[in-house]
Amino acid sequence: MRAHNFGAGPCTLPIDVLEEVRDEFLDFAGSGMSLVELSHRSSEYDSVHDETMKLTRSVSGAPEDFDILFIQGGATLQFGMIPMNLASAGQRIGHVVTGSWATAAYTDAKAVANAYAAWDGAEHDYTTMPAPSAVRVESGTRYLHVTTNETIGGIRMVELPAADVPLIGDMSSEYLARPIDWERYDLVYGGVQKNLAPSGMAVVFVRKASIESSPATLPKYLRYDWHAGANSLANTPAMFSTYVMGKVLARIEAAGGIAALEADSARKAATLYRAIDESEGFYRNPVDPAVRSHMNVVFRLPSEELERAFLAEAGRRGMIGLKGHRSVGGCRASLYAALELSSVEALAGLMDQFATDHRQA
Ligand SMILES: Cc1ncc(COP(=O)(O)O)c(C=O)c1O
Repeated sequence: MRAHNFGAGPCTLPIDVLEEVRDEFLDFAGSGMSLVELSHRSSEYDSVHDETMKLTRSVSGAPEDFDILFIQGGATLQFGMIPMNLASAGQRIGHVVTGSWATAAYTDAKAVANAYAAWDGAEHDYTTMPAPSAVRVESGTRYLHVTTNETIGGIRMVELPAADVPLIGDMSSEYLARPIDWERYDLVYGGVQKNLAPSGMAVVFVRKASIESSPATLPKYLRYDWHAGANSLANTPAMFSTYVMGKVLARIEAAGGIAALEADSARKAATLYRAIDESEGFYRNPVDPAVRSHMNVVFRLPSEELERAFLAEAGRRGMIGLKGHRSVGGCRASLYAALELSSVEALAGLMDQFATDHRQA
C-alpha cells in the first residue's frame, strides 16, 4: 500500500510521475543508459533541461525580464547568496522575521551584509504575520526579504508588506501553489523538494537588471550572473531533480496551473482546520486564524502522551510524516501539491474519531 505522506519535504510526488520515471530509468530515450548516467552535455539531457526551463516559465508566469536559475544547495544556499549578489558593500537590507525559516535567512544575511529586522514576530511567538503597514523599512534599504509561508510555524503571509522597496521572497513551502506578484519582487526562490521535485536544487527567479553587477570578488558558483550566462549549465547540474520537475510541472500545467493548485491547497487545508475547530478544543492550532498556512497545518493534542498515541495510530493507518518539527513538537500535516484530497480526508476522519475516543480520557 502506498503511504499517505504528510512529510514536510521531501514529500509525496505524483504516482504517475514515479511510474514514468521507473519505466524510463534504465534506458532513457533510447540512449542505452539511465538519465543519471548521461552527460549533462548530451543532446538527450539538453532537451530535458530546456523543456523543464520552459515549463518553469510558463507555469510560474515569470516575465521575460526575470532569469530562471536552477542552483544546487537548496533554499539554504540562497540565504547567503542573495545578499552577497544583490546588496553592495554596506547597503542596508530589511528582513521580516516571521518564524524559523525567516530567522535562518536573516541570520545568514547578517553574516555577510548589513541586515536589520524590519519586523519581528518574537513577541507573538511567531504565531502571526505583520499587518502590511507594520513593517518598518529604513531609508537606503536595497530590498526587503519575506518568507511567504513558514513551514514549521504553519503561518502564511496573506498580504505582502506595504514597502516601496523591492521584495525578495522565500516561497519554498508554497512554491507555484500561489500566484507571484512579479511587480513587487526582484527575486523569488525556493527549494524544489516540496511541490515540485526530488531534493537537489533551488529554483531562483531573479530580475535581470538586479544581477548585472554581482561583485567580482565572489567565487563563481556564488554569482547569479555565472549561472544565468550559462542557462544553469555552467557546471554539472542536478539532472535528476530537473528531469522529474519537468514531469511534475507538465502535470501541474495540464491540471490548471497555479490557480488550480492554490484552490486545491485551500480545500485540503480547510478539511483539517474543520477537524481542529470542531474538536471542542481537543486539537489546538496556535496560529492567528487569519494567517493559517494552506500547506503546513500544525496542531497540538491535550498531552504529549496523546500526541504519541495519535501518531502511532496514524502510522498504523499508513499516514506518515505527521510529527511536528523537532524544534516545536506537536503534529504537522504538510499538504503539498501531489497529496490527494482523499489522504487529507482520511486524516480528518482519524482526527474526528481519535478526539471522540479520547476526549474524556
Ligand atoms: C520556508 C523554507 N525556507 C527554506 C528552507 C530550507 O530549504 P533547503 O532544505 O532546500 O535548503 C525550507 C526547508 O524546509 C523551508 O521550508
